[in-house]
Amino acid sequence: MLLTQLPGYFKSRRDSLMRSHPGAAFVFPSHPDCIRNSDVHFPFRQESNFFYLTGLEEPDSCLVLAPTSSKPGLYKMFLFVLPRNPEKEMWEGERYGLEGAQKIFGADESYPIHELDTQLPEILQASEKVFYRLGLHPEMDRRMTTALESRRRSQGRSGKGLLPLEDPNGPLGEMRLFKSSEEIELMRKGCKITAAAHQAVMSEVRPGMNEGEIEALVDYLFRKNGCQRLGYPSIVAGGKNATCLHYRSNNELLKDGDLLLLDAGGEYQYYSADITRTFPVGKEFTASQARAYDLVLRAQKEGISMARPGVTLSQIHHQVCSVIVDGLLSLNLLKGKAEEILKTGEYRRFYPHQTSHWMGMDVHDVGLYLQGGEPRRLEAGMVFTIEPGFYVQPSDPGASEFRNIGIRIEDDILITAGGCEVLTRDVIKERAEIVAVKNG
Ligand code: GLY
Ligand code: MN
Ligand code: MN
Repeated sequence: MLLTQLPGYFKSRRDSLMRSHPGAAFVFPSHPDCIRNSDVHFPFRQESNFFYLTGLEEPDSCLVLAPTSSKPGLYKMFLFVLPRNPEKEMWEGERYGLEGAQKIFGADESYPIHELDTQLPEILQASEKVFYRLGLHPEMDRRMTTALESRRRSQGRSGKGLLPLEDPNGPLGEMRLFKSSEEIELMRKGCKITAAAHQAVMSEVRPGMNEGEIEALVDYLFRKNGCQRLGYPSIVAGGKNATCLHYRSNNELLKDGDLLLLDAGGEYQYYSADITRTFPVGKEFTASQARAYDLVLRAQKEGISMARPGVTLSQIHHQVCSVIVDGLLSLNLLKGKAEEILKTGEYRRFYPHQTSHWMGMDVHDVGLYLQGGEPRRLEAGMVFTIEPGFYVQPSDPGASEFRNIGIRIEDDILITAGGCEVLTRDVIKERAEIVAVKNG
């Protein structure tokens, strides 16, 4: 199923957004085309909000949804796109152009993108405020401010000032946080492909391989099985490299006796998976690796057992942290009282990140974590990760047997009416099962 083949799918999202924000206009620029050098481009991936509301995968475009009267739900959709240009299309591929913007993507009116600042003042006549995210694309910001200023001037001595700007990630975050049944199907599929790749890599990895080789293998398996790209750059971290949380070099040899931390997720039709597994490069865990692994797994399972409607991510994090702190005490990495360590945050030396983040079109997805200043309660349709970790830096002065060990175990969780579904359950994480796989 391709979302872009579902008629009305994107329109129903636009309708619902506009119905719930009477008087407001929304301006969503696409991502620009980014040049790497001369006429070589970086791979293009559409901006998530823009794709969520249009399904259009072209760069240098802009979606404007603007009310046509003060009655809720009455609005027009404008698409500003790159106009057709046979010479350019011969080099860069076909464009939908102004006609495609209307016929295929449902715009009421379409214009060439270079007319954005001159058309906008008129389009925004009936708007009382504009949802537009400043600071992402300087060129778009310039066009927006030109348009808003010229709209203000056109009102003469009416006493009306600039239209107020608001962040569209508020309303869009709220919509994108709750996944529809179609979106859930896409996420299930992406998680399945990702889990299968992790499982395959776990069996394949041998001492003497390079981290880069594993990175390429994961990429290959994701794309061979239907993902379009990665949801984020893979972290392929052998041994002490796993203690660097956002390790990106992925270019060292994997050694027997080390663990490999693999954090990789495929993107399937614009929805990302996010899995981490940590397993031996060779056949066995050392005794210290095994103790640390069991601690992280215990914390992760405890977190997952709490996932259901009504609970908060903050409660899950707190519980995961208590398990980790008890473990750090019994491994003699910390001394003192658990409550005190939880209060001071001393455990962050070994577990510095959060347990969860929302997931969806972006791996760290939009959506507020607080509501009225309080952690929000989980509801059916929300998807997030549970990913405790344990990292002992090479320079850590504590127990040397744990130095250079980095472990994270990460699964993707969908909240359902009655509890939760672990979307990434297909990849094993029990230590005995991993050892069995590593021993053929
Ligand atoms: N892969 C990024 C994360 O786990 O949050
Ligand atoms: Mn994650
Ligand atoms: Mn991850």
